[in-house]
Amino acid sequence: MKIHHIGYLVKNVEKAAKAAEVLGFTPCADAVYDVDRRIYILFMENGGYRIELVQPDQDSEIYPLMKRYKNSPYHICYDIEDEEMDAAIERLSEQKFTLFKAPCRAVALEGDAAFLMSLDIGMVELVKR
Ligand code: NI
Repeated sequence: MKIHHIGYLVKNVEKAAKAAEVLGFTPCADAVYDVDRRIYILFMENGGYRIELVQPDQDSEIYPLMKRYKNSPYHICYDIEDEEMDAAIERLSEQKFTLFKAPCRAVALEGDAAFLMSLDIGMVELVKR
């Protein structure tokens, strides 16, 4: 699977974007607010590498992760391309990946996204666009 983006958890998306700009990233679009997940999302790109800056509200289900990760990468997202989402999840589940967020609409990605956890390699996002 091709890597679609690296997800960063950030306390302040504007400050994070400025830091990323120093590193050569430019915004792909304006930041969007995902009402369901209560997070601000900004995608940025640098020479084919894409990052996702995720700033959760305090009542977001993602907010508790802030204590653990602070400002740092916390997931890698893979584009499943031609594979169906259910098939990809089943394939990974057979390899000790545990689904913890079922596929749902990812506003900023214009596709469906699901999250799985591996005790051996951490958090993985799958996207079907
Ligand atoms: Ni992501």
